[in-house]
Amino acid sequence: MLAAVDQPRELAMDVMYALQKHYGYLSDEALEEGARLLGLTPLELEEIATFYDFIYREPVGRFVIHVCDGVVCWMCHAGWEACPTESVMDYLCRKLEVKVGETTPDGLFTVLPVCCLGYCDHAPAMLVNGVLYGPLTPEKIDEILHKLRTETCEVVICR
Ligand code: FES
Repeated sequence: MLAAVDQPRELAMDVMYALQKHYGYLSDEALEEGARLLGLTPLELEEIATFYDFIYREPVGRFVIHVCDGVVCWMCHAGWEACPTESVMDYLCRKLEVKVGETTPDGLFTVLPVCCLGYCDHAPAMLVNGVLYGPLTPEKIDEILHKLRTETCEVVICR
């Protein structure tokens, strides 16, 4: 694949996703491996990696919950009757007993903010391992967390 392109840099995302899928996150060693494959310096690849929300430079849980931080989701959340003062992020963090960016002690969930998911017509929304959910309510979030905890779901490192 690398031989088929003029600029190996074009495949930086594919290489990083492949390494992330293999290792679970893009560790320093994986980043160096990717840089070597692409003919880049680790710093050049790091610059690309840190630009994207879906490249994880730290270990993450089995399910990475990307909560939309976009304006439409914020506006729609204001209609939550059950928790009018609590955002989706606040609700998730409270339920999972983590802070933003943390992983639950059982290694199941990591909660991260993300820019608009392009799912505004289903706001408020979140993305979990490549699957979009919305419009969210506290009850729906509880259902989703229960389903993820109890069902065997294919683990997809987000793309
Ligand atoms: S603002 Fe949340 S999906 Fe667009």
